[in-house]
Amino acid sequence: MIVVGQLLLECAETPGAARLAPGYVRVEDGFIAEVVEGELPSTCDLGGPECLVSPGLIDTHLHLPQFDMIGAHGMPLLEWLMGVTFPSESRWEDAAFAAAMTERVAKQLVSVGTTTVCAYSTVHHEATVAAIETLSKAGLRGVVGQAMSDRYAPDNLVGGTKELLDQTANLLEQFPHSGRLAAAITPRFAVSCTPELLSGAGRLAAENPEVIVQTHLSETIPECQLIGELYDGSKYVDVYRAHGLVTERTLFGHGIHLDAAERAVLREASAVIAHCPLANSFLRSGAMNRAMAINEGVRLSLGSDIGGGYERSMVRVARAMVETASALGDVYPTPADAWWQITAGNADAAGFADAGRLQPGAPADLFIAEPDLPWLESPVNPLAMILFAWDDRWVRQTLVRGDVAYRAG
Ligand code: GUN
Ligand code: ZN
Repeated sequence: MIVVGQLLLECAETPGAARLAPGYVRVEDGFIAEVVEGELPSTCDLGGPECLVSPGLIDTHLHLPQFDMIGAHGMPLLEWLMGVTFPSESRWEDAAFAAAMTERVAKQLVSVGTTTVCAYSTVHHEATVAAIETLSKAGLRGVVGQAMSDRYAPDNLVGGTKELLDQTANLLEQFPHSGRLAAAITPRFAVSCTPELLSGAGRLAAENPEVIVQTHLSETIPECQLIGELYDGSKYVDVYRAHGLVTERTLFGHGIHLDAAERAVLREASAVIAHCPLANSFLRSGAMNRAMAINEGVRLSLGSDIGGGYERSMVRVARAMVETASALGDVYPTPADAWWQITAGNADAAGFADAGRLQPGAPADLFIAEPDLPWLESPVNPLAMILFAWDDRWVRQTLVRGDVAYRAG
């Protein structure tokens, strides 16, 4: 299959930025066989000279069970969890419901060009298995974790400490890191985990040195104060560090309210902050200073954090990242930076060597969009036009492993 268009590629001379080049991608047996720049072929199966051909987008922080509550009451985090999130996640006690819902979520994801995710399930084990199997059947790449909590939630959303650790250990066996869709070690956040649960999660991380660890960190000030009360006055990052959870494959959602010493711990461990700008504004958590983190050498990724965040499209999340930086007066991430972040940047942050780039040998996870504006005539910057004027309806097809997973009506 030949896919023609303006290819979204990495800039060799500007690390951390994307660029466009006309060309085509040849897909064979589900993989990218060839990427040709500067030349349009005589045959074309998908796309066209006016189309964008982008690697499938990567969302490094989202909650599968929260897709049905997007936009529900933007109260502060701890009230929102108790009042809205936990009641909604209770529905995943029913694994059949979780499977059906995940099928709907997978459709929503591919319809906005997302092909790779780092996702949270709920505390429920059967629902997590069902979610992984369903996303896998839909062809998605990435990781899903059973969100472990053994306190600070209603009874039906907490598990026994040992039981939760055994269940995650089982998931790691059943869905190993070598798979296209794998299990992740996912202590929800230190508020809802006892020190014993965090220690067990740290042990699992040490025993499984490739596996992604995901959790939440310093999203709101009342949350950080609660951490101080629960953990003898410790700082939030130090709690995770003391339990072996600050690693180069840990994705820390949010990381807004950190001091310089905490950021230094993250930098030294090469841990990643999964920046979630839309959730931060929806829940009024604060604004993450991305430029400061970059200047201090902290690795970053970007996530929708649905349902704290309210946009499924990673292009819109990338736009929010630019807007947040701009409101803080930071060095403005360029549109080229933003497109890189949601493709190759997120792939690097999460360690997915086979995602985020149009590269020969990689699975053919990509999407084709047809921007309804004269973007190619832009004298300045077509990447800016398609970032700021983005419309999800421009997505025409999304391929996962070379199969058309979404085709616009
Ligand atoms: N902290 C702990 N759980 C959650 C969650 O589900 N969403 C967000 N935004 N923060 C959290
Ligand atoms: Zn989250």
